[in-house]
Amino acid sequence: MKKVITYGTFDMLHQGHLNILKRAKELGDYLIVGVTSDDFDSRRGKINVQQSMMERVEGVKETGLADQIIIEEYEGQKIDDINRLGIDVFAIGSDWKGKFDYLSEFCQVVYLERTKGISSTQVRSQHNHLRLGLVGKAKHLWKVANEAVAINGIDIVGTSGSEHDSRLGELPDYSFNELIEKSDAVFIESNVKDRYEQIYYALNHRRHVLCDLPMAIGAEKQRELLKNARKNECVLMSGVKTAYSTAYYRLLLMVKSGEIGDVISVETTCTSLSEISKISEHIENNIWSSMDAWGATALLPVFQILGTNYANRNIVTKLSDDHFDIFTKMDFVYENAVATVKVGKGVKSEGEMIISGTKGYVYVPAPWWKTSYFEIRYEDQNRNKRFFYELEGEGFKYELVNFLRAINHGRVINYTDDVVLEKISAVYKEFCSRENIVEI
Ligand code: CTP
Repeated sequence: MKKVITYGTFDMLHQGHLNILKRAKELGDYLIVGVTSDDFDSRRGKINVQQSMMERVEGVKETGLADQIIIEEYEGQKIDDINRLGIDVFAIGSDWKGKFDYLSEFCQVVYLERTKGISSTQVRSQHNHLRLGLVGKAKHLWKVANEAVAINGIDIVGTSGSEHDSRLGELPDYSFNELIEKSDAVFIESNVKDRYEQIYYALNHRRHVLCDLPMAIGAEKQRELLKNARKNECVLMSGVKTAYSTAYYRLLLMVKSGEIGDVISVETTCTSLSEISKISEHIENNIWSSMDAWGATALLPVFQILGTNYANRNIVTKLSDDHFDIFTKMDFVYENAVATVKVGKGVKSEGEMIISGTKGYVYVPAPWWKTSYFEIRYEDQNRNKRFFYELEGEGFKYELVNFLRAINHGRVINYTDDVVLEKISAVYKEFCSRENIVEI
């Protein structure tokens, strides 16, 4: 029996895919199709894929052409597969011409003519053109705008509140209501105290929302927003980009699967010094204090790993002469664990994360919130493991792609649970109202 293998992402299965599968099948008696895993795709920079791995596998299965489907998970796997599965022919589209000649040492390599005029990229951009509006100050939005360019299917229509900053290029700046008129969805990174009203308005106009955390001040308001999103059948997603990075997500899964035993302590630190000289501007905007800038990001792993039912919490904040919180330390005591969160704006420290367990610990070096690398360390250093997952740009791409996917598929892939969102809003409210907060 002559065995043929071919590989691909097979996103939004199209005629080009069908043609290559048919031709590959004709080269032998048995066709094996390797479908790339989501992880592998994002590692090799293909982060735009719209369908999940399972959906893509399903698509290939439905063609009825594959005798066997396998998952491609890592660089170098093709040689392994060819040897392990006893492959006679490796077939791939002509766009790869020459790239797989090295496999001819193991089997016959055939490049099949690529079907002209069609690709997943093209199908994706025809299917979903989401008109996205950006809300907030330009200094936060231009990076989002930059990264959105690479995502086919998203068109940035304009901004609101960006004050015509040159970093945003030619993008027009509208009033909030005007921007909502022109958009299908909005990305919000505005002043925290404005967010609730803005989200409410957007959802009531059936616009999807991706918003930085906290979305609202207080758990009740956050809950109300989530309810409103469901009522209006809109996607309301958290815009903390760390949550969408592959490394961070993997790390959470490993911790939850007991890789370091029971978790006893979570420590996170996020600080920055930038632009602190313009303190009056910060106060006027009321947004970039230590808690505004970093609170939600630094609290996220604590609540995601240890849950939200802590028994006690202690918050100490260091105020500047202008009553601007430049450093805040939060301690949480759980039944079986503790957490310490340090955030600073105008105070600098090592931005690392350490998760300690009964069998070992996770160490994420600074800046952990842009995680591309982490280590799991044990008593026996020989068992230490290192993990690296490519993170492109600032990581906004990943959350935008997930947002687009959630809208297209009518469901939110839950990277951040509702209870976590609510708890972050609750802590933020306590902080703002100085409820049981020690000031120094
Ligand atoms: N393919 C083809 N003809 C096309 C598109 C793809 O023969 N018009 C082949 C590719 O050469 C590859 C396989 O189908 O062997 C899987 O390709 P994949 O990367 O999944 O599809 P693309 O449409 O090229 O995806 P993208 O636009 O994301 O690069």
